[in-house]
Amino acid sequence: MNVLDSELIIATLLREGFTQAESMKKADVILFNTCSIRQHAEDKIYSALGRLRLSKEAHPEKIIGVMGCMAQKDNAQIFKRAPYVDLVVGPGQIARIPELLAKIRAGKGPQMELSLERRGRGRHEVEDSFDFYDPMREASARQNPFMAYVRIMFGCDQFCTYCIVPYVRGPEQSRPVDEILAEVRQLVDQGCREVTLIGQTVSKYHDQPSGTRLSGLLEQCERIAETTPLERIRFVTSHPNSMTPDLFEAVRDLPHVMPYFHVPAQSGSNSQLKRMNRGYTVEKYRDVCRQILETVPGAAITSDFIVGFCGETEEDFQQTVELVKDIRFKNSFIFKFSPREGTKAYELWEDDVPEEVKRRRNNELLAVQNQISTEESAKFVGQEVEILVEGTSKSAMKLPVLNGAAEFPEAVSDADPTIQLTGRTPCDRIVVFDGPRSLIGNLQKVRITDSSPFTLFGEI
Ligand code: 5AD
Ligand code: SF4
Repeated sequence: MNVLDSELIIATLLREGFTQAESMKKADVILFNTCSIRQHAEDKIYSALGRLRLSKEAHPEKIIGVMGCMAQKDNAQIFKRAPYVDLVVGPGQIARIPELLAKIRAGKGPQMELSLERRGRGRHEVEDSFDFYDPMREASARQNPFMAYVRIMFGCDQFCTYCIVPYVRGPEQSRPVDEILAEVRQLVDQGCREVTLIGQTVSKYHDQPSGTRLSGLLEQCERIAETTPLERIRFVTSHPNSMTPDLFEAVRDLPHVMPYFHVPAQSGSNSQLKRMNRGYTVEKYRDVCRQILETVPGAAITSDFIVGFCGETEEDFQQTVELVKDIRFKNSFIFKFSPREGTKAYELWEDDVPEEVKRRRNNELLAVQNQISTEESAKFVGQEVEILVEGTSKSAMKLPVLNGAAEFPEAVSDADPTIQLTGRTPCDRIVVFDGPRSLIGNLQKVRITDSSPFTLFGEI
């Protein structure tokens, strides 16, 4: 969500005549797009703001803004802890950022007053309303011009007891089908080869007027892919309770929809799931995974888990370990519970699992998952997979090293030298291989020669 929001903010500002600065030091405007999901994410922002204090004193004209979920949740506290912040804007008002920046820039008078005035104004801008507005897309604002997120839902109504999202992202709302399809077409015109439909609970997607659900939306995206260079369609995140056979069948039957399901389980213990207000039992979760794999053989399933949630016993935790071992997720994202003020769990229960126990459970579950990921990855060795080439791998930044010509890249005679490239399989496995730069943005068949838990290595 935040990657997309950042892209939209950058696109909006580029259109207003801003350009991206090379560094924070050179920037006139510094905006932090923040996350509130765990305390750690917030702490990082306060340290980053702290590091800017002296620079702001020396250059009071620099504008510092805090956007995103933390801005929505903690607006007054941000001004208290970092009084030199000029602007605080929640995730529902991205479209207003240029106007707010213009107001601040137009501000006159002694710095102290200006700062107070700015502060007052900034605080008011955090509204409870959410403009359901996505500014037009802009390829140059994306980290990768070939891949884009498309928001299909805003907010969340699940109210899992540990989670701050429903309070900072507002009520759940599906975007109209036509708007989504128009955005997908626009992205394809801009050169996008892969779109990922995103929302907190995309399996609940429901466009009321047309009655379209996620399976129907995927079908309509597939129609676009049939007649354009769009190659791949993905969707995240699913909630087990709203995943129905029509969704699995759509993934099975639509060739451009990738066989990848991110279905957070959060825990393998029924008493914990109940306390978390997840709305399903572990038996139901296992059944959803069984249905996925029966309908879409070879599909990858990934999950999220929270360890050390209030009241989690060793037995509860072992049930989570069992679930991970049984389902054999492609990957799991494992988090230590972090109490969030404002949530039900914060109100009702003590954060009673000691930090060292959380850490130990986190490491134990990670080790189990890593072992599974290693084994599952190794199965690909010798297979041929089709990958969408995303770009150069990080280590490739130092290349090309061709015939000792590394210091004089312009001297390389081959117009398209071999470099280290990276891409993903349909199941979202990362593949590193050597090939010409011209493959970037295209599909390529690669034979896998080696594997590590989270990366496959191959050759054309
Ligand atoms: N503490 C730890 N992890 C959390 N998540 C959500 N809220 C919390 C919290 N308070 C995790 C969930 C969710 C993922 C995005 O973040 O696993 O699926
Ligand atoms: Fe948070 Fe639960 Fe909504 Fe996911 S489904 S965003 S965990 S409240």
